[in-house]
Amino acid sequence: MTKDDEITVEQLDAEAAHAAIPALAEILADAVESGASVGFMHGNGPSDYIAFWTGVAADVAAGRTVLFAARQGAEMLGTAQLQLIGKPNQPHRAEIAKVLVHSRARRRGLGAGLMQAAEAAAREAKRDLLVLDTDENGAARRLYGKLGWTEVGTIPRYALMPDGSDCGSTFFYKELR
Ligand SMILES: CC(C)(COP(=O)(O)OP(=O)(O)OC[C@H]1O[C@@H](n2cnc3c(N)ncnc32)[C@H](O)[C@@H]1OP(=O)(O)O)[C@@H](O)C(=O)NCCC(=O)NCCS
Repeated sequence: MTKDDEITVEQLDAEAAHAAIPALAEILADAVESGASVGFMHGNGPSDYIAFWTGVAADVAAGRTVLFAARQGAEMLGTAQLQLIGKPNQPHRAEIAKVLVHSRARRRGLGAGLMQAAEAAAREAKRDLLVLDTDENGAARRLYGKLGWTEVGTIPRYALMPDGSDCGSTFFYKELR
């Protein structure tokens, strides 16, 4: 493997998160265009994605979210978030969100690398119960199963696909103890 092929995952601090907004917006746009149910519809556009990542960068600055970027060589091709739950009665819990790998870089291990980084950060933050949900028909369901997450069940019609059709959401958890 040359340096250009090497997959790396880094944690973005507030400044790096802000600087990465255009690249992150492009990764999110690609996910929506490729039909993933990730919070947005086909009618959404660049300004929606920029606004979304601007909010995430603010959450990173506030210490609510740990943001990761995956690269192959120099190019940013994937991202994931660890959302630290702030409720007084859930100090041990965090959620994984927006695990996205650009469609031209999938099945190379970036998604698994992002998840490993998020789990390591959760341990560091003393969070030992992780939760996430995902499209019942998406590739991510297989990714989480492979990484040892426990599937709880699927809620039908939980969200919409980008084209407006129904999307059931499958919920998972993972204990890090
Ligand atoms: C889900 C997603 C992040 C996976 O990223 P990725 O970089 O392709 O995943 P990896 O290469 O690390 O895959 C690791 C393992 O997950 C499973 N997997 C991932 N994609 C799969 C697919 N399309 N079909 C079957 N298994 C798959 C496989 O077991 C794979 O291991 P293998 O390639 O050795 O068989 C990517 O497909 C994506 O961005 N999808 C659209 C956005 C989305 O739905 N995100 C989830 C939001 S919760």
